Amino acid sequence: MSKGIKAMKNNKDKQTTFFENLESVPFTYGTIIFNKEKLVCLLEGINGPNNPSLLKNKIIALKEIINSPKSDREGLLNIDPNGDTISLRRDVLISELNQILEARTLERAKYYLNRLENGVQKVKTCKVNDINLLRWKEYDEIITGSLWILDKRDSSGAHLAWYWGNFIPQIPHQMMLRYTKKGDWVLDTFVGSGTTLIECKRLGRNGIGIELNPEAVQKAKELVKKEYNKHGVTTEIITGDSRTTDIKTILDKHRIDQVQLLIMHPPYHDIIKFSKDEKDLSTAKSTDEFLKMFGEVVDNATPFLEKGRYFALVIGDKYSKGEWIPLGFYSMQEVLKRGYLLKSIIVKNFEETRGKRNKGDLWRYRALVGGFYIFKHEYIMLFKKK
Ligand SMILES: C[S@@+](CC[C@H](N)C(=O)[O-])C[C@H]1O[C@@H](n2cnc3c(N)ncnc32)[C@H](O)[C@@H]1O
Repeated sequence: MSKGIKAMKNNKDKQTTFFENLESVPFTYGTIIFNKEKLVCLLEGINGPNNPSLLKNKIIALKEIINSPKSDREGLLNIDPNGDTISLRRDVLISELNQILEARTLERAKYYLNRLENGVQKVKTCKVNDINLLRWKEYDEIITGSLWILDKRDSSGAHLAWYWGNFIPQIPHQMMLRYTKKGDWVLDTFVGSGTTLIECKRLGRNGIGIELNPEAVQKAKELVKKEYNKHGVTTEIITGDSRTTDIKTILDKHRIDQVQLLIMHPPYHDIIKFSKDEKDLSTAKSTDEFLKMFGEVVDNATPFLEKGRYFALVIGDKYSKGEWIPLGFYSMQEVLKRGYLLKSIIVKNFEETRGKRNKGDLWRYRALVGGFYIFKHEYIMLFKKK
């Protein structure tokens, strides 16, 4: 049952509301575009007088217009080519109007009405993203829980799952929505197949990716190029070792001196060998060597992250000789000892890796014999630069 329908069912159960006899509203998804001036005028007109029945009738009339645009005698949906428009999510708007109608006092109804008016007229964002906090209910796409069970990879457009060891596009997508504004710069020091940069183009963020493997770079460049650049952003992929690549020169070229989001998705040590290159973190001879190399990437990249901004590390653990190696927590420690603030540890489910595909029973048997658990999760560790 959809959230909206559930909400309506719950509404039916409520006994005493300020306005009675609410008619039920058919629930439909979508956006509705209003003539902003007329909508503001209407809401102000309702809010002005202390007249409960006027308030009720006007809100019901507004709901009718939303459900049946033909009943729009006020011209709320008449779009003036030279005027301002506002698009609101239909389901959220309906639920806000219902909330007004269900209020137990006129005071409360006016409180909800004011909130709606504010959301229509003003924009309130924080320093690190474009989420309009006055319309926060419209952002249900954004995950706020620390356990991510994502059952499907986004494989739309240029996102192909060809690269063994890539992350699902939802990871950079979520990070950018939450921790960047349009036009900000994102740096990914292990860009692999270019997933982060494809998302940059979709969301209107500029992106720089560094990748050691020239073949991956070649393919990533082709893919990123395929993604339509509707926001006119800049994306660049550099072939190089993220421990030593001169990031300052790259930023200088784009006339910036800082980035606003840093994403790192290093190899999970030697779980997948990306190449035989000794500069590749997946060829590190031990966990300690891996952590040392990872630390060098952190030291090379973090000076260019703006203060107060975020660094997302995507990493998983590994088994070695029958022992669980908490690579994620060790790597987290490398970042923490450099003075970063830990904001969150997100646990994300793992889809079947290529190596284990169609071998579920075999792995279950091996787990039972060997007394171990099969990896089903990885981490997104989120740090803030103080
Ligand atoms: C887990 S993958 C990243 C995948 C990427 N997130 C994607 O969606 O395609 C890790 C990548 O780090 C690269 N790599 C390993 N050592 C590196 C280094 N020293 N500098 C830059 N890239 C490196 C590997 O070639 C590999 O492509």
